[in-house]
Amino acid sequence: MTHFLDIHKTDATDLRGMIDTARAIKDARAGRPKGAPDDDKALAGHMVALIFEKPSTRTRASFDVGVRQMGGQTMVLSGKDMQLGHGETIADTARVLSRYVDLIMIRTFDEATLLELAEHATVPVINGLTDRTHPCQIMADVMTYEEHRGSIAGKKVVWTGDGNNVCASFLHAAGQFGFDLTFTGPEVLDPEPEFVEFARSKGSTVMIERDADRAVEGADLVVADTWVSMHDAQSSRERRHNLLRGYQVNDALMAKAKPDALFMHCLPAHREEEVTSAVMDGPHSVIFDEAENRLHAQKAVMRWCLGV
Ligand code: CP
Ligand code: NVA
Repeated sequence: MTHFLDIHKTDATDLRGMIDTARAIKDARAGRPKGAPDDDKALAGHMVALIFEKPSTRTRASFDVGVRQMGGQTMVLSGKDMQLGHGETIADTARVLSRYVDLIMIRTFDEATLLELAEHATVPVINGLTDRTHPCQIMADVMTYEEHRGSIAGKKVVWTGDGNNVCASFLHAAGQFGFDLTFTGPEVLDPEPEFVEFARSKGSTVMIERDADRAVEGADLVVADTWVSMHDAQSSRERRHNLLRGYQVNDALMAKAKPDALFMHCLPAHREEEVTSAVMDGPHSVIFDEAENRLHAQKAVMRWCLGV
């Protein structure tokens, strides 16, 4: 079964192929008037289940629109309305859903839920974010970097703040796409060693630098994410803000990066917390291209999964 569970679990040549396909899919739609019929019918006759155990704007909308644009149909399921893990095993849910649909995308909490679903499903499963990783986001991010600046190989990416699920997938991508990553944040929020070791094992330089100004020197890309993720306890909010305040991406910090550095954020962003509005809406920012590219990148991921 061709699942898309994580960037480090997917062949690097296949990942490159997906980025190239995504670029071609985007180009084919460029300039198309709204309402014009789509030529791409790769998912005609396919039913896709989109399961959400956490909130989502981009993942939900981009997968839903992407499937429909390719001629398929979607079924959006909310975790709280399902039997998922409430008495019925994940394995049985996987077996049942596989009888109805051709592809499953799931956003969940525990990575074990994703893995159990994938193990027992007889259709491909896509990771739409867990507490540990967010691979679809980083496929869109690599695509976005490359459409603005060319190959990401050998570039310096600086991750600021919390070494969270999105950071983890960036580290996987560093290894698979051949770029370097500097993490700057407080020690207690360092990314898990396993993610750092993966990137290093593939030859990427991964640095941990507590001083944000020093970290950003020479950066080609600066990335921020929320200081409190969906899986973090709300009670940790104040502590996290106190730990992370010094890592806000603002104009002064961006000025330390290369003059043509890009700024990315997977969104949703908390303006004036992890990043200022001046940076989000400023000349370095490509955040809305990133959001758009979720659509194109995930179409390529789905086509790869289904072999269509
Ligand atoms: N970036 C991202 O995954 O956004 P959503 O949480 O809105 O899906
Ligand atoms: N790190 C964030 C990403 C949201 C898309 C979270 O998990 O909430």
